[in-house]
Amino acid sequence: MGQSRLLPSLLLVTFVAYVLPLAAGNDSLPQRRSMAIHEKRTNIPRHYARAGDADLDAVMKFRIGLKSRDVTGLEKALYDVSVPGSPNYGQHLTANEVRNYMSASAESMSAVAEWLSEHEITDIDPSSTAGNWLSFSAPVSKANELFDTTFHSFVHKRTNEVTIRTLEYSIPRDLAHHIAVVHPTVSFGTSSVRSSVSSIARSDVQARDETIDPSCNNTITPKCLQDLYGIPTTPATQSSNQIAVPGLIDFFAQFSDLKSFLEEFRPDIPSNTTFAVETLDEGRNLQGPDKGATEANLDIQYTVGLATGVPVTFVSVGNDTTDGALGFLDVVEYLLNKTSPPQVMSMSYAFDEANISPALAQRICDTYMALGARGVTLVFGSGDAGVGDALFQNDTCFEFNPPFPGGCPFITSVGGTTNINPEVAAQLSTGGFSNVFPRPAYQDPFVLPYLDALGNIYEGRFNASGRGYPDVAAQALNVKIINNGNETFINGTSASGPIFASMVALVNDRLAQAGKPPLGFLNPFLYSHPEIFTDITSGNNPGCGTPGFNATEGWDPISGLGTPQFAKLLAAAGISDEA
Ligand SMILES: *[C@@H]1O[C@H](CO)[C@@H](O)[C@H](O)[C@H]1NC(C)=O
Ligand SMILES: *[C@@H]1O[C@H](CO)[C@@H](O)[C@H](O)[C@H]1NC(C)=O
Ligand SMILES: *[C@@H]1O[C@H](CO)[C@@H](O)[C@H](O)[C@H]1NC(C)=O
Ligand SMILES: *[C@@H]1O[C@H](CO)[C@@H](O)[C@H](O)[C@H]1NC(C)=O
Ligand SMILES: *[C@@H]1O[C@H](CO)[C@@H](O)[C@H](O)[C@H]1NC(C)=O
Ligand SMILES: *[C@@H]1O[C@H](CO)[C@@H](O)[C@H](O)[C@H]1NC(C)=O
Ligand SMILES: *[C@@H]1O[C@H](CO)[C@@H](O)[C@H](O)[C@H]1NC(C)=O
Ligand SMILES: *[C@@H]1O[C@H](CO)[C@@H](O)[C@H](O)[C@H]1NC(C)=O
Ligand SMILES: *[C@@H]1O[C@H](CO)[C@@H](O)[C@H](O)[C@H]1NC(C)=O
Ligand SMILES: *[C@@H]1O[C@H](CO)[C@@H](O)[C@H](O)[C@H]1NC(C)=O
Repeated sequence: MGQSRLLPSLLLVTFVAYVLPLAAGNDSLPQRRSMAIHEKRTNIPRHYARAGDADLDAVMKFRIGLKSRDVTGLEKALYDVSVPGSPNYGQHLTANEVRNYMSASAESMSAVAEWLSEHEITDIDPSSTAGNWLSFSAPVSKANELFDTTFHSFVHKRTNEVTIRTLEYSIPRDLAHHIAVVHPTVSFGTSSVRSSVSSIARSDVQARDETIDPSCNNTITPKCLQDLYGIPTTPATQSSNQIAVPGLIDFFAQFSDLKSFLEEFRPDIPSNTTFAVETLDEGRNLQGPDKGATEANLDIQYTVGLATGVPVTFVSVGNDTTDGALGFLDVVEYLLNKTSPPQVMSMSYAFDEANISPALAQRICDTYMALGARGVTLVFGSGDAGVGDALFQNDTCFEFNPPFPGGCPFITSVGGTTNINPEVAAQLSTGGFSNVFPRPAYQDPFVLPYLDALGNIYEGRFNASGRGYPDVAAQALNVKIINNGNETFINGTSASGPIFASMVALVNDRLAQAGKPPLGFLNPFLYSHPEIFTDITSGNNPGCGTPGFNATEGWDPISGLGTPQFAKLLAAAGISDEA
């Protein structure tokens, strides 16, 4: 369902962090530099196959990720403002403070630009939000020479989309300490992004009741969630407190469907309550019959429809991405560049962690870290295929397949549950352990006991030193939305993410009312307050021909810490609910 981009065109970024000293030019003759392999992949990602040589004249848009000045310092600063009890808790960083950590040194900029100019590359663009990328374009023939490699065409087996990549590339030895990653090279993530929804249309009438209606056991509406998790219906009051809902791959959110949804499921609020639209990378938000997408409608209806009164912005990312990763990086750089970014981002997209290189995964994760330092909570659905895959059920694998970005320790990953009384972990709820990101310290007291109890039953199938996910969970099955005018049921952690994000936004509203900063990077707070959650202790997430992991007492890699109770979330945030 994704799309691959062969010839991405230049996004004109006008924030110029550096003026490049390109004058170094022709004083000395270019010398052949000694090259060393920088990144290499041992196999083609499982959804791709080789499709011959790449067209030597095809022009590719490259980005060189330069090493940031001080990522370690940024991480330290992030925890300093995010760990409850820290003296600087809540004192989030400004855009400039973040840029000072994230940006590359002028020396790195000019050293790498000089190498590129030796190869007569003239369109070097040093502008980026965080000041740590150089962009340029080059035909495949020149890229082969520059990176001492041979680019090939690869085809995605499900979508038949063709993409130009290589399995290894080199950079000059003397520049290795300046360069983190070159993209697109060995990362293939872009074609397998998918929203995690499936749907069937059906109609039935939802009874309303003061207690949790028994029908909530198999039909989820906003009212069910309000009753189940204690989500208030009173409108938020702080217009500065916002939610951003990115939409990728031409998934458009429909105003008319939201209106019908509110009329039917939130008769207590004005049905003209709506959402704002921002676009980047030539994004659009087309309206009309068959223009809507279940994913975008779900994401909007369960933020606008649950985070009562919180302004929601749909950020539509077009196909003119500069990141070669369907906008995953562009959208966070876009938010990072704002003077006042939205305090919560809810994103229901994922792809196989193994498809992108560890260096690119790290770079995107670092950018999430930067947004966290600005005070933004990043919420992602964990994935919809149990332990087997991010997106598609797979029974033939041996190793479990963790999706990205669930493994990044700076995002909050939301798994899925179903039923009430008790809630049970949903089988589709993806969970497991990253192969790229090590377990963050905040997880040790929760994940280590789980691993101890698990024993060696899945030896070799997952990486026990990796970051475990999801962090939390929320309802994921039989969630009612309006799509193209019709009632539709959705299954997926695509629902769980917006539900949880809405609760965080409502807490942020109360914090803002009290003159306090937003929750920001959430995980240290959540793992300090397990009492917020109803522990989910049954259910499992099959995949790779196994029953997957079990939901157990305490944290587990299917329901995380459990499902949230709003009053407890509020209390943990230091707000007493006198209402
Ligand atoms: C960053 O924000 C400035 C204005 O604040 C804008 O001119 C520029 O285009 C933005 N850059 C990106 C990459 O969005
Ligand atoms: C710089 O050197 C390149 C070859 O390395 C040559 O093609 C170009 O004309 C030179 N430019 C100037 C301004 O001398
Ligand atoms: C969602 O999952 C439930 C439980 O497995 C199933 O009964 C229902 O048909 C599924 N709905 C869709 C839309 O796939
Ligand atoms: C909820 O539905 C499940 C099947 O989906 C059933 O096993 C369970 O008994 C139901 N619980 C209640 C309280 O109705
Ligand atoms: C919604 O409708 C009410 C009156 O019915 C009006 O006062 C209000 O301005 C409208 N809001 C929007 C966002 O259009
Ligand atoms: C982007 O989408 C537009 C509209 O669907 C299409 O016309 C254009 O060819 C696409 N561009 C690329 C590079 O995929
Ligand atoms: C399932 O996983 C195996 C091993 O990774 C892979 O070879 C196969 O293509 C996958 N099947 C599907 C349907 O994705
Ligand atoms: C396991 O995860 C760690 C990071 O937690 C990583 O460094 C290591 O390479 C991974 N091992 C494998 C075999 O993937
Ligand atoms: C919506 O329902 C109508 C009436 O049942 C039907 O004609 C139409 O095809 C449905 N649209 C979609 C997108 O399912
Ligand atoms: C899950 O629980 C079942 C039943 O208690 C047990 O047989 C199985 O070994 C457990 N699996 C894991 C992965 O913990």
